[in-house]
Amino acid sequence: MALIANFMIGIFDSGYGGLTVFKEIEKTLPQYDYIYLGDNARAPYGDLSQELIYNYSRQAVDFLFAQGCELIIFACNTASATALRRLQQEYLPVKYPGKNVLGVIRPMVEAVLELGPKKVVAVMGTKSTVDSGAYINEFANLDKSIKVVQEACPLLVPLIEASKEKEPQTKEILKVYTNDLKQCNPEVVVLGCTHYGWLWEEIKNNFSPETIVLESGQVVAKKLFQYLQRHPHYAQISDNPSRIFLTSGNNKKFDLAAKKFLGREIKSQTVKLN
Ligand code: DGL
Repeated sequence: MALIANFMIGIFDSGYGGLTVFKEIEKTLPQYDYIYLGDNARAPYGDLSQELIYNYSRQAVDFLFAQGCELIIFACNTASATALRRLQQEYLPVKYPGKNVLGVIRPMVEAVLELGPKKVVAVMGTKSTVDSGAYINEFANLDKSIKVVQEACPLLVPLIEASKEKEPQTKEILKVYTNDLKQCNPEVVVLGCTHYGWLWEEIKNNFSPETIVLESGQVVAKKLFQYLQRHPHYAQISDNPSRIFLTSGNNKKFDLAAKKFLGREIKSQTVKLN
């Protein structure tokens, strides 16, 4: 198969959460061009209907492929849980044959299993991700013996989008969300929402020191690295790799949040998604 020229990877999330994934992907695979797209104007997705999440995710896919992306990563559990399979099975083969969109849920489940035998795994996620049962199904496909306990945490994404991770109210809310999970003595807690990476430390403090709290960034970066090795036609690298940041929301606000998280200045542009 011929090498793909100007190989560009699109990274999509409803908002800032996917930056936790982009940061690790960029560290692991700096040689590629990236476009990050945050649908901040319509975030959070977590309480929306499955149909709406599907439609918004499809619009993001159309947008990113139109920008020249060859591969898209849904750095969003909510879109991965509710829209990804349908897009992969029904939409991509017809509209974009040969192009692919990858999600975060399967890599996270595989990463837990790679940690060795586990009895109880806790998943924290948006209402939509939890209701979809995507994590329960994915674990059941790979290892039926694991008990999966879940907690929907609908207040966390709005707090993170409003940059309130360090506020006392966020700590109090986290205690409520983690209390029941803690009673189940999970060996691993899966942060089943890419926004929660911003709260990794605060969440970790709510569980026993032995509990592993797994966030998507490093896991997805490693799995993408492996995927690209298995698909060598994507091997084309850029001489001068570009980073483009796009948001459907306020670009100044996006730049501030990105600076806080990525530790460097970026200049995003506002785009319209429809
Ligand atoms: N980062 C998204 C996820 O991983 C956030 C979902 C939302 O917008 O509610 O699920």
